Amino acid sequence: MEFNILSLIYLLASITFIVGLKMLSHPTSARKGNAVAAAGMTLAIFGTIFLYNEEGETLGNYGWIFAGLAVGSVVGTLAARRVKMTAMPEMVSLFNGMGGACAALISIVEFDHLMQLLDGPGVLILMLADEPGALLGLVIIILLGLIIGSVSFAGSMVAWGKLNGSLRDFSFRGQQAFNIGLLFLIVGLAVYLAVALPANALLLFYVIFALSILYGLFFVFPIGGADMPVVISLLNSFTGVAAACGGFLYDNKVMLTGGILVGAAGTLLTILMCKAMNRSLTNVLIGAFGGNTATAAAGQSQGAYKEISLSDAAVVMSYANKVMIVPGYGLAVAQAQHACHELEKLLTSKGVEVGYAIHPVAGRMPGHMNVLLAEADVSYEKLLEMEQANEEFPTTDVVLILGANDVVNPAAKADPGSPIYGMPILDVELAKHVIVNKRSMKPGYAGIENDLFFRPKTSMLFGDAKKVLQDLITEVKNS
Ligand code: TAP
Repeated sequence: MEFNILSLIYLLASITFIVGLKMLSHPTSARKGNAVAAAGMTLAIFGTIFLYNEEGETLGNYGWIFAGLAVGSVVGTLAARRVKMTAMPEMVSLFNGMGGACAALISIVEFDHLMQLLDGPGVLILMLADEPGALLGLVIIILLGLIIGSVSFAGSMVAWGKLNGSLRDFSFRGQQAFNIGLLFLIVGLAVYLAVALPANALLLFYVIFALSILYGLFFVFPIGGADMPVVISLLNSFTGVAAACGGFLYDNKVMLTGGILVGAAGTLLTILMCKAMNRSLTNVLIGAFGGNTATAAAGQSQGAYKEISLSDAAVVMSYANKVMIVPGYGLAVAQAQHACHELEKLLTSKGVEVGYAIHPVAGRMPGHMNVLLAEADVSYEKLLEMEQANEEFPTTDVVLILGANDVVNPAAKADPGSPIYGMPILDVELAKHVIVNKRSMKPGYAGIENDLFFRPKTSMLFGDAKKVLQDLITEVKNS
């Protein structure tokens, strides 16, 4: 009876995940979608704790379980409440890494159990005697969870460090070959362990664990420049697949559904990010591309740039027919989304058509600009995807770039030696005027100079985005 209720709860939780995921795809329903999926997860967790009962055996260990739940809930709530909007991408990476670590820990615990059962005349032996392939299947799933989970954990920790600026890109000569060799070694050892189950299986298992952690580190360390978005979404999908392995292991439908959903969503996101960055997935997997910091840092001064005053910028925009705003990471840093929306409304009230050109990797996490602008209640209809925006630029009078840099860098199209070469960009130069707001001439995430700032159509409007926008609002009101 209890088991049936639990199955029903798992079914309900799986449905809430799917519905929640669907709702997450639109800014107006995203908040509710998150709550729906979280409610389903809560139901599944408490259902498992109180209703799990297999042949009279309940979960037990309630002290540990509730202590873990309490610590996790407190840390998670505090971290989520305190995190600044700009630190959100790092936190997402950190949480993703925790998911990978959980999957790896499940594998460690379960392999240890398996070894103990195989050592003694456990029930497992009797069970597996009927199905010779079952033991192999079990070990394969445990190993998959261990390898994918560890890679995801270690890789996410490096991504976390890189996003918050505490870690730098790191690579050495022959790293590609080293990475491929390491991957083959891990797979080879895992196959041997699964097929032969040698006497020193436990030791071998920990060697595979250590090598997987090492691979996760070396996999993400060299990837830099502007290529982190692809890796971040790939690590996301890894965590989902690793969690799904846990679902297989425990025959737990809700873990399986949740893991597969995350894995599939992460894979789709990876494909989208690859498209946005114009990179192939094979390159990502062997860590073949990325920020060659030496090249990246070697920006050359392109000569003189011209500045525009606040009042001139206000006049140019007030008398324009169409203004396109390009938001970037700097807008999030300045927390200037509300001021930006206010300027947009003001210009619209003066009869100017205003839109936002959103580059898929602007900011530091997928959808960063969408989330940022949604926070300020910017209408979703005003957001144009890169392809749409590029079609609109030839008929645009003024492009106002707010804290964006790499996503409008023409080197991506013109300079084969550039670390961002090949990445599609917003073709802002097709518009009549380009106004760039940033605080200095410093480079963006990829660490390279931007020739756009020195082009004839471009004028620089220096200052913190929030302050500049507030001053622009005053000037536009007076113009
Ligand atoms: P960036 O190229 O990083 O440029 C941001 C610019 O904002 C900087 O040049 C900075 O110049 C300016 N800025 C910083 N604080 C500011 C403030 N308070 N007011 C005004 N300007 C400010 O940003 P982007 O164009 O959005 O491109 C994103 C980059 O991050 C890409 O290279 C992308 O590949 C990478 N990345 C993206 C993701 C995802 S998933 N979106 C993940 C990891 C990495 P100053 O210092 O001179 O002000």
